[in-house]
Parts: sequence; structure tokens; C-alpha cells
Amino acid sequence: MEDLIYIGNFKDWIKDEWLEHLLNHDGDLLPKNLKNEDDESVLPKWDDGFNASVTENFERDIVYCISYQHHNFPFKITANDLPIDIGDKNFEFSFIKYNPGMIMPIHIDHPLYGRKFVDGEPQFDPKIERYWMSLLDYERGHVLLHNHKLFKDYKQGDLYKFQNEMDWHGSANLGKNVRLIFNFTTW
Ligand SMILES: [Fe+2]
Repeated sequence: MEDLIYIGNFKDWIKDEWLEHLLNHDGDLLPKNLKNEDDESVLPKWDDGFNASVTENFERDIVYCISYQHHNFPFKITANDLPIDIGDKNFEFSFIKYNPGMIMPIHIDHPLYGRKFVDGEPQFDPKIERYWMSLLDYERGHVLLHNHKLFKDYKQGDLYKFQNEMDWHGSANLGKNVRLIFNFTTW
């Protein structure tokens, strides 16, 4: 079983104004918001890969989590703003909010740049790297399932990398307080 790889702590990288925004404003409610077919900034990304990699029976008329990306996060995040040096690679980011009661079923992350499928099976892309950071300290009820392992006791700003870009993972907030995550993918 492959664990998450610990990169380091970047607590000082997290800006108070980001947290303030995430706590006080909602982004895209996933997948519920994606029923709006006018929202081309989000829907194609979701349908390209994510839909195919989540359970076949997933329910759309609920909210798994709240997502913030370039189009609905008012602060600019460039490659130079990332917590690590990614050289001249491309990247995409998401801030994710889980209010108490929200649950993201296990899935393989959707590639924003097109995943290849062979006979309906998503294909591993070795140039993709996926990073995960908690924007708050772990607390009881905050769930990150990575492959078959439950991750906890992380601190605000702890940055991890997936061993494999196609690692299965899921999240939930069974706790009393909001859970905030920052993800970014490079390729
Ligand atoms: Fe994910």
C-alpha cells in the first residue's frame, strides 16, 4: 500500500485573507452546481475524468464539497505562489471546503488536461504529480482516506504528495468545524 509522502510544513505560506474568504464565501457546490450546463468553466472538467472515475451510481443532487479554483477564488495563485518550486511545469489548484456532514466518495482525481482511457479504463500518467495540504490543524471527525489508510493528526500547512497520481482517496467531515484543504496538481 502506498502512503502519502510528507513534503514539509508550509503554515506560513497560508494567507489569512484566503482563510477568511473560504470561511465566509461559497465556491462551486460539487457536484450539485454542475447541473448548470451553462457553467462551461467547470462542467467539462468534471465530466472528462471525474465522472468516469467516481462510483457509477453517484448522486448529483447533493453537495460533496465546495470548490474554489481560478474562476471563483479572488486571489491570484501563480506557479511562483505555490509552496514548492515546480520549475516550468503546468499546474492547477483547488481549495476545498467541507462543512460538517459533507462527504466526498472515494475517487481518482480528474485530470484537468485530459486523461486517456483505454477500453474505458483511466490510464496512469507518470508526469502528473498531486499534492495535498490541510489549511487547518486536524481535528476529530476530519477524515482523509488515502487508498486503504486513514490519515489524521496532520497540522495546518502540512504538505503531502501522492505516491501515484491515480491513488484512490476520499474525504469527509464528521466533525464539528469546517475542514479546509488546498490541492494542486503539476504536469
Ligand atoms: Fe480528489
